Amino acid sequence: MQEIEISQLRALTDLIKQRHDYDFGNYAMSSFRRRVQRIMELYKFASFDALMEKLRGSDAKYFQEFLSEITVNVTEMFRDPTFWVELRDTILPALLSDNKIISIWHAGCSSGEEVYSMAILLKEMNALDKVRIVATDIDNAILAKARDGVYSAKNMEVNQKNYERMQGLYSLDAYYKEQAGKAYLDKTLVKDVSYREHNLVSEVSFAKFDLILCRNVMIYFNQTLQNQVLKVFHESLYKNSFLAIGSKESLIWCEIANKFLVVNNEEKVYKKVKD
Ligand SMILES: C[S@@+](CC[C@H](N)C(=O)[O-])C[C@H]1O[C@@H](n2cnc3c(N)ncnc32)[C@H](O)[C@@H]1O
Repeated sequence: MQEIEISQLRALTDLIKQRHDYDFGNYAMSSFRRRVQRIMELYKFASFDALMEKLRGSDAKYFQEFLSEITVNVTEMFRDPTFWVELRDTILPALLSDNKIISIWHAGCSSGEEVYSMAILLKEMNALDKVRIVATDIDNAILAKARDGVYSAKNMEVNQKNYERMQGLYSLDAYYKEQAGKAYLDKTLVKDVSYREHNLVSEVSFAKFDLILCRNVMIYFNQTLQNQVLKVFHESLYKNSFLAIGSKESLIWCEIANKFLVVNNEEKVYKKVKD
């Protein structure tokens, strides 16, 4: 298949913005192009124009599928186990020391494995009832999966390994039941979690938090969009509260970097120190 040109990608993002009100204009070009290419193969579009034609229509169901395919949903429980050790041993104890309810935002939560990891960690710290969690994503279909908390049993192997590397207190299978190739997570863990659709590109801050996790999301954004989204996070954090990003992401090139202090450079944890 011929490589899609930048001008074609521009025409595509313009069309999506006009017809469907989603703005992908500042997503990182190379990964966005790969996703478009993948969609064309998956849905067997004969040409780029055929894809454009499909998106020009008002097939909402197709657009939801397109949205799910254009965004990368790969995730796992306790992804980067040493990050979860840092949360358990340093960040969460600091936040919980005041003995007040703390609030956590998972921005770009995908199918919810990150949220279950947090709930399990908090339960093992006897702190699940001291925390309010909001989990958001641009993609409603993936949020439905997060709400379900049903994963492929095969995926639980890597999740279990991560949990062991993080030195969880028990065995991960204490938190789910396996049946017919599926793992049903214990929903009581997330009974107080609020899942909601939220687009980091177009929406503003909606509450204040003590900890924001936005891991492996901004890697798909260009610098302009990263700056914009980090402003939303800055506004959504109390002073002296924490922001955690993905292991391949960084704050140092961002306009707002001087308002944050590096807490752990390896695990990409930052503290908001200036309003
Ligand atoms: C690779 S997953 C990361 C999941 C999890 N945070 C982790 O680190 O394993 C990226 C998620 O970001 C979401 N996402 C992409 N663009 C977004 C946007 N503009 N607003 C909110 N979420 C977005 C995708 O739908 C996807 O679920």
